Amino acid sequence: MASYYSPQPKFYYYYSSLIILCLSTLLFRINSQPAPRNISLGSSLTAGAASKDYWLSPSGEFAFGFQQVAGSSANGFLLAIWYNKIAQKTIVWSANRNELVSSGSTVKLTKDGSLMLADPSGRQIWGPNGVGAGVSYGALFDTGNFVLANRNAAVLWGSFDQPTDTILPTQIVKRGTELISKYSSTNYSTGRFKFTLQNDGNLVAYTTFYPQTGSNFPYWAGNIAGNSVNFNKSGNVFLSSANGTILLYLFTNKEPTQDLHQRLTIDHDGVIRLYAYPKQSSPSAGRRWPAEWTTLSFMPEDNICGLMRDNTGSGACGFNSYCQIEDAQFPKCKCPQGYKFLDNSDESRGCLKTFPPQDCSSAGKEEGLFDLVEMVNTIFPSGDYEYYESISEDMCRELCLSDCLCDAVTYERASCWKKRAPLSNGYMDQENTGKTLLKVRRQNSTSTADKENDRSKKLMMTAGWVLLGSSVFVNLLFLVASCPWRNKNRMMSQVADDSDEATALSTNLRRFTYREMESATGGFKQVLGSGASSTVYKGVLGERSGGNVAVKVLDKLPERDGHDVREFATEVKIIGGTNHKNLVKLVGYCNEGQHRLLVYEFMSNGSLADSLFGGGAFPRPNWYTRTQIAYSVARGLVYLHDECSTQIIHCDIKPQNILLDENILLDESLTAKISDFGLAKLLKVEQTRTMTAIRGTKGYVAPEWFRNMAITTKVDVYSFGVVLLELVCCRRGFEMEGYEEEEMVLVDWAHECYGDRMVGRLVEKDEEAMKDLVKVERFVKIGLWCVQEDPCLRPEMKKVVHMLEGAVEVSVPPSPASYINTV
Ligand SMILES: *[C@@H]1O[C@H](CO)[C@@H](O)[C@H](O)[C@H]1NC(C)=O
Ligand SMILES: *[C@@H]1O[C@H](CO)[C@@H](O)[C@H](O)[C@H]1NC(C)=O
Ligand SMILES: *[C@@H]1O[C@H](CO)[C@@H](O)[C@H](O)[C@H]1NC(C)=O
Repeated sequence: MASYYSPQPKFYYYYSSLIILCLSTLLFRINSQPAPRNISLGSSLTAGAASKDYWLSPSGEFAFGFQQVAGSSANGFLLAIWYNKIAQKTIVWSANRNELVSSGSTVKLTKDGSLMLADPSGRQIWGPNGVGAGVSYGALFDTGNFVLANRNAAVLWGSFDQPTDTILPTQIVKRGTELISKYSSTNYSTGRFKFTLQNDGNLVAYTTFYPQTGSNFPYWAGNIAGNSVNFNKSGNVFLSSANGTILLYLFTNKEPTQDLHQRLTIDHDGVIRLYAYPKQSSPSAGRRWPAEWTTLSFMPEDNICGLMRDNTGSGACGFNSYCQIEDAQFPKCKCPQGYKFLDNSDESRGCLKTFPPQDCSSAGKEEGLFDLVEMVNTIFPSGDYEYYESISEDMCRELCLSDCLCDAVTYERASCWKKRAPLSNGYMDQENTGKTLLKVRRQNSTSTADKENDRSKKLMMTAGWVLLGSSVFVNLLFLVASCPWRNKNRMMSQVADDSDEATALSTNLRRFTYREMESATGGFKQVLGSGASSTVYKGVLGERSGGNVAVKVLDKLPERDGHDVREFATEVKIIGGTNHKNLVKLVGYCNEGQHRLLVYEFMSNGSLADSLFGGGAFPRPNWYTRTQIAYSVARGLVYLHDECSTQIIHCDIKPQNILLDENILLDESLTAKISDFGLAKLLKVEQTRTMTAIRGTKGYVAPEWFRNMAITTKVDVYSFGVVLLELVCCRRGFEMEGYEEEEMVLVDWAHECYGDRMVGRLVEKDEEAMKDLVKVERFVKIGLWCVQEDPCLRPEMKKVVHMLEGAVEVSVPPSPASYINTV
C-alpha cells in the first residue's frame, strides 16, 4: 500500500471527486418525453430533436439516447446510456465515443430488426456486432442493459456485451471483453488505459498504445485465469471459473447496497474504481451518503503513478512531467520547475522546457549557466544513458552539470543515473528514497535568444493560487473577498508600477531575494509538506529575523493574463496586512522573476489533524486544550470576517489548516492558528457564484457551494461547526471503521445523541470531558447551529465566540442539513 492513502480509510465518502460534479454541468440533456418501454421495430431517436429523444427503462433509472458532449466543437452527440434519475446523468455506456455525431443524426431500430446509428446524411456510424436475425423489439432494462430481443424475449444482443469503460451490477464480463478508459474526465473518446478479461482468461490492466487501443504495458494483473467477471448486486466483483467457483475477488463489500447505485469504471487516470451513489428512492441512504459518486474502493491499491515503468511510453503522465497523488487517491500530472505544460487544457500531454537547452557546440561556454533543481522523493525510473556507483551526491551533480547532454540525474544511495530528455515515468511518492536533480538554466543567465521572452514571461507569471500550511494533504483553498471590490481596483492601480515596492512599503513585510531564500532553506532541502500547487520547506533566517520559518514555494502556473504580477502583489498586501494571534503570520515574500515564495512563521507542532486524529508524532490534546483550540480558531475567524481591513472568507477551514503553537504542551499558553487563510485566489464578486470554482474540502464544505447561492462568511461557519464537533469527539466528520452505521456521519450522530439527551455518548472514552458534560453539550449545540443547511440560520462567528464562552444562551438547534440535499 502506498503511503499516500494513509491515514485515511479506504472509503472516501467525503473526498469523492468534484470533477464529477463539474462533469454533470457539461452534459446537456436534450429533452424529456419518455417513450414506451418496449421499443418496437421502426422506432427512432434524433440527436438534438425537439421531442421524444430517449428511451427509458421501466423504472426510469436509465435512459438510452443522445447526449451532447461539451467541448466538442460542432455540437457532438454521443449515443449513450446514462443514469437518468440522478443529477449527474452519468454515462455508463456509449456507442460512438470516437466519432461524435452532429445534430440531426438518428438511431433507428429498423423494420428488419437492426439497430443503426446514422449521421444526418444517412451514413451508418455504428451498429451492434453479432446480433443475428429475428429481432422483434428492443428494450432498456432497469439494470442499464439495452437489449435486442426476439419474439420469445430471448436476448440476441445487449449493450452489456460491448461495455465501454463501465460495468454495472448484474453485468457479466466474458473473455475477450475490454473496458477502455475515457481520454479525460470530460472527453469520452478512448483513452490511455484498459482493463480486460483476455481470451486466455487472465484479467489485466494495461496502458494502451495510445491513440491505438492495443495492449501495451501491464500495470495490474489478477494472475489467475478465469472464465468471467461478475458484478453482483451486493457490490462484490469477482473472477469465476466456468463452473462458477470464485477464483479472485476484485472488490468485496460488506455495506448494504440495495439503496445504492453502483458502477465499476476504469477512469481516465488508469485507476479502476467502484463507485456508489444513493438512490433517490431511499432517504436513509441519502442521509448517509453524499449525493454524488463516492469511491467505495479502487485498484490497483498501489500508487498508480509508480506502476507504469515501461521502457517506452511516458508513464502515468506525459513526457517530462511527473505524477503525484493528491486529494484522496486521485493522481495529478505536474511539470517540474523550469518546465510548463505542452497544452494547458490537457495536462496528460506532458511538459516542455521553458528555457533554451544547453548549447553543446560552444564547448564549455555555457557551463556555469545551469543549476540543478532538487526534486525530493521524485524519480524518473527510465531514460538512463549512464550509470555510476559509489559516488557522492556532489560528484553526481558535477557529472551532470559538466555534461551538456545531461538533462537530469537521479541520485539514490550513492548511485547516480544520468538521464536524457524527454524524461519519462516520473512520479513522486514519499516512499521514493531517491531524488532527481533536474538541470535548468539559471534565471538571469538567459541566452541571447531568450532575452526577448523574458519580458513576456514576467507577465505570464501567475500567482493567483497560493497555498499555506504544512499538511501533505493541503488542498487548494480560496480566499474570497466578498465585500464590494471598489477598494481592490484602487489598490491594483497603485501597485501597478512597481508592485513589489508598494507591497513592501505598505505592510512592513520583508522582501527577500531568491538567493536569500535558497540559503535560508539550505537549497530547499527539508520539505515540510506539499499541496496542490506548492511545496513548503523549512528554513532558518538569521537571529535578527527570528529563527525558523516555513517557506512556501508556489508552483509556476499556466500562463493567464498579465494581471497576475499585480494580483500577487495585491494578495500579499492583504495577507501581510492581517495581524492576529490566531492567524499564522506572513513574515515576508519573494517575488523575483519566476519565483514566488511566501515566508511564514514556523509552527513546530504540526496541524490539528495530526494530533486530533492520532497517528502523528503529537499527543492527542486533552479536553481543556481542545476547548482552547476551539476558542482560538473562532477568534481567528472573527478577525478575518469582521476585523481586518478587507473581509476575508477562508473557504477551507479544516483541521489540516489549523496549526498548533509549540506551547501546546504547556497547557495554559497554547495557541492554535489558522493557516491557509491568505494568498489564495481573490475571487471577484461575480465569481463567487460559479460552481466550477469550488475548491474547499469535502466534508467541510457548506451546501451553498453546490447551489447557485452567494458564498458568504457563513461557509466558514459551516466548516467551523464540523471542526468543532470533531474537536469535541476527537474523530473525523465521517468515519467508517469501528463505527456503527448511525455513528458514521458525525453531524448526524451528534444530533441524534443530543436529541436523546445523551451527549455523553460522544465523549465516552474521555474522562475529563465526561466530567464536563454541560460544556460538552453547549459545544455540541453550537456545532449543530453552525452546520445548519440554511446559511441564515447559522450564527455569525462573533456570536459563536460568545456562545463558546458561555456569554450567551444557546437555544435548541434544529436538525442539521442532510447530505442528500447538498447538491
Ligand atoms: C415487451 O415485449 C415482450 C415480448 O413481446 C413482452 O413479454 C413484454 O411484456 C413487453 N413489455 C412491455 C412493457 O410492453
Ligand atoms: C478528445 O481528445 C482527443 C485526443 O486529444 C481529441 O482528438 C478529441 O477531439 C477530443 N474530443 C473532444 C470532444 O474534445
Ligand atoms: C454476491 O457475491 C457474494 C460473494 O460471493 C455473496 O456472498 C452474495 O450473496 C452475492 N450477492 C448476491 C445478491 O448475489
